[in-house]
Amino acid sequence: MTFSRIAGTGSYLPPRRVTNDELAAELAQRGIETSDEWIVERTGIRARHFAAPEVTSSELAEHASRHAIEAAGLQPTDIDLIIVATSTPDMVFPSSACILQAKLGIVGCPAFDVQAVCSGFVYALTVADSMIKAGAARRALVVGAEVFSRILDFNDRTTCVLFGDGAGAVVLEASEKPGILATDLHADGRHVGVLCVPGSVSGGKVLGEPLLRMDGQAVFKLAVGVLEASARATLAKANCTEADIDWLIPHQANIRIMQSTARKLKLPLDKLVVTVDQHGNTSAASIPLALDAAVRGGRVKRGDKLMLEGVGGGFTWGAVLLQY
Ligand code: ACO
Repeated sequence: MTFSRIAGTGSYLPPRRVTNDELAAELAQRGIETSDEWIVERTGIRARHFAAPEVTSSELAEHASRHAIEAAGLQPTDIDLIIVATSTPDMVFPSSACILQAKLGIVGCPAFDVQAVCSGFVYALTVADSMIKAGAARRALVVGAEVFSRILDFNDRTTCVLFGDGAGAVVLEASEKPGILATDLHADGRHVGVLCVPGSVSGGKVLGEPLLRMDGQAVFKLAVGVLEASARATLAKANCTEADIDWLIPHQANIRIMQSTARKLKLPLDKLVVTVDQHGNTSAASIPLALDAAVRGGRVKRGDKLMLEGVGGGFTWGAVLLQY
């Protein structure tokens, strides 16, 4: 049986790092009040990175992809499928995946974007896994890349302190050794309004509001419930139990949601990979950024079982259990 297995990981953060105190000082100039204390206590976030105005998702994705391809011991031309998870694409079309493909000097392989907001990376990984198992690809580049700073309303303190920019990538390769063990994806479009950017482009104009709107408490409640259920469903599909999980790598939105999920799965908190403190919420990029940090930091080792979990706008959620 053919599995799909992670051959290499990579990530990239734009150089401008903004601490809570620095952001609070910038917001104070607009008459918006916030503090390091409030942000850390409610979210666990201490800093985030913001890309320069001219830097696009595909540019962040290119850096992360080159690191992942190098870690896999491959050349860009070895890649035969590109999937980019993003909600902040470079253009309305073509896809950021096609733009990334050109930047990497790859010609001819399929390339497309997946849009599932903060669940985007688990969606993209699941699609790539299915295509590899079906024989449609052998070496997939799966990327999460975002410039959420572009869609933040810096007059809304309830959202603008939460997000950051960045990209993470993996090379997923066909393998006889186990890699991805089980996946589980869901969506419930009844909750479109709790987290959205309700704008669109029409007749040369932006219609509606092109800025992020979120009912934080509604998102919090939905997230806590579905993350536990999706992890359990994924474990059951792989005939595994919570005790088999070596590392929980959830979407990095809020430390309280992440710790609550770990507790519900009876996992000690030292099995939880946390980067939200340094990256903020980077939407589809957060899981591959956290994964790469844990791999390069020497915590995640070959053979470890990882539970990746995403949750976000849509409402969407899902999980991937894999042996690294
Ligand atoms: N600084 C200071 N005070 C603030 C700030 C801020 N940045 N933001 C809100 N407040 C105030 C509010 O105005 C409110 O004041 P009031 O009581 O005088 O009205 C008070 O703090 C409490 O506000 P709440 O919204 O009740 O705060 P809560 O404890 O719910 O925390 C938060 C808000 C952090 C947004 C939380 O609800 C949360 O994390 N929700 C989940 C969000 C999430 O995970 N989103 C990402 C999903 S992924 C995706 O798809 C993009």
